[in-house]
Amino acid sequence: MDPTTQRRDSIETIFSPAQIAERVTALAGEIAAKKLENLLVVAVLKGSFVFAADLIRAMHTNGMAPEVEFMTLSSYRKGQVSSGQVSIARDLEGDVEGRNVLLVDDILESGRTLAFAKDLLAARGAASVLTCVLLDKPVKRAVTIKADFKAFDCPNVFVVGYGMDAGHRFRELPFVGRLVRPV
Ligand code: IMP
Ligand code: MG
Repeated sequence: MDPTTQRRDSIETIFSPAQIAERVTALAGEIAAKKLENLLVVAVLKGSFVFAADLIRAMHTNGMAPEVEFMTLSSYRKGQVSSGQVSIARDLEGDVEGRNVLLVDDILESGRTLAFAKDLLAARGAASVLTCVLLDKPVKRAVTIKADFKAFDCPNVFVVGYGMDAGHRFRELPFVGRLVRPV
């Protein structure tokens, strides 16, 4: 079997490109309605890069002109399970003091990654820190945090695609899917 066929057989679509596009457009409208001045979008790498790229362009369509920065956080996952420790693998380049920040991440699961990032930026003097996630998996929450904006509630399964990986694979898929069997 060629790799493409194998991949199609092994990943079941949960959210299609059209469903994602519709939610991203709606989210950008909700964010624009907040009228946040001097907004800085902070995308948490790596998983959020595709979502953030689509979101900022939808924000532009809604008349916004955010600045964009990246921060790579590592949550020491062992396989598909989060260990609880979060560390900064690559920090922001600029200052967040006095800025309204929109933190963008792929999945809110235990909540530790986003809570860590939110506390860090608040401690650095951000004027406000709002959070926006593609997927919310509330079943696995370990710390109290709620996303201010979210595209979808996600079933409690391991997902890949649209920037998200399993062992560094599948980030390029244009949809969010679940691994049906190991590939
Ligand atoms: P949290 O700190 O437990 O909320 O973990 C969130 C991070 O774990 C996300 O930003 C993802 O990078 C990763 N993650 C959680 N669930 C999945 C999944 O189903 N697929 C891929 N990555 C995941
Ligand atoms: Mg992540």
